[in-house]
Amino acid sequence: MTIYGINFCTKVRYLIGVKLDREEMKRLAAEKALDYIEDGMIIGIGTGSTVEYFIPKLGEKIKKEKLSIIGIPTSHRTKNLAREYEIPLSTLKDHPEIDVTIDGADEVDPELNLIKGGGGALTREKIVAFSSKKEIIIVDESKLVQKLGVSFPLPIEVIPFGWYPTKLKIEERFDCKAELRMSNEGPFTSDNMNYILDCEFSSGIEDPEDLEKELDRIPGIVETGLFVNLADIVIAGTREGIKIFEK
Ligand code: A5P
Repeated sequence: MTIYGINFCTKVRYLIGVKLDREEMKRLAAEKALDYIEDGMIIGIGTGSTVEYFIPKLGEKIKKEKLSIIGIPTSHRTKNLAREYEIPLSTLKDHPEIDVTIDGADEVDPELNLIKGGGGALTREKIVAFSSKKEIIIVDESKLVQKLGVSFPLPIEVIPFGWYPTKLKIEERFDCKAELRMSNEGPFTSDNMNYILDCEFSSGIEDPEDLEKELDRIPGIVETGLFVNLADIVIAGTREGIKIFEK
């Protein structure tokens, strides 16, 4: 058995042997993602600390190899960082079809379903993932779990008007506690000017697909951080090196 259960449709393709700490694991995963970048591609660029290792490397690669790449950022933060590294950017209006997206995740289960949204960018990340031919997730090994929602609350983006009854409805219908995410200035707001509810499920999420469908029926919910059947490849930096999981 491994620390991470691998189901039948998932295979480990690559493994190297070195000892790493968590930041090194993230960096290693981010660097490995460069292997999937080709000249002429439209690239979705995710959000979060792992992606922040990827962006400078992508900028370097574009410059060094004189690549013609266009990036679609999933947040203002990513847009600003990508600009710093001179990555040409565009919008989904001009480029609605993305070749490959590189993004992080808060949890990854053995079927490559994800929880995302720790950074609050889940709605844009999900739209970009849905528009991508290939979704590649880069994580360190702490994100690999047997069951979603056990160690990380599920972020749900909600319309500020009516956030409270939406929270009550979520708590009433599901076995969870929904906390309004706060910042120093008051409720945290996403790039879409919405609020985030972080939902703790006492015994994790039994059926992510079913939960996603049920949550989508509640008015006021913009999007959930459940990414079911959206990830094609997960690159995990682990203490032993890189592991690649594929659908
Ligand atoms: C951003 O909203 C999230 O979905 C991130 O992709 C996720 O939280 C992973 O972030 P880290 O790479 O910082 O752990």
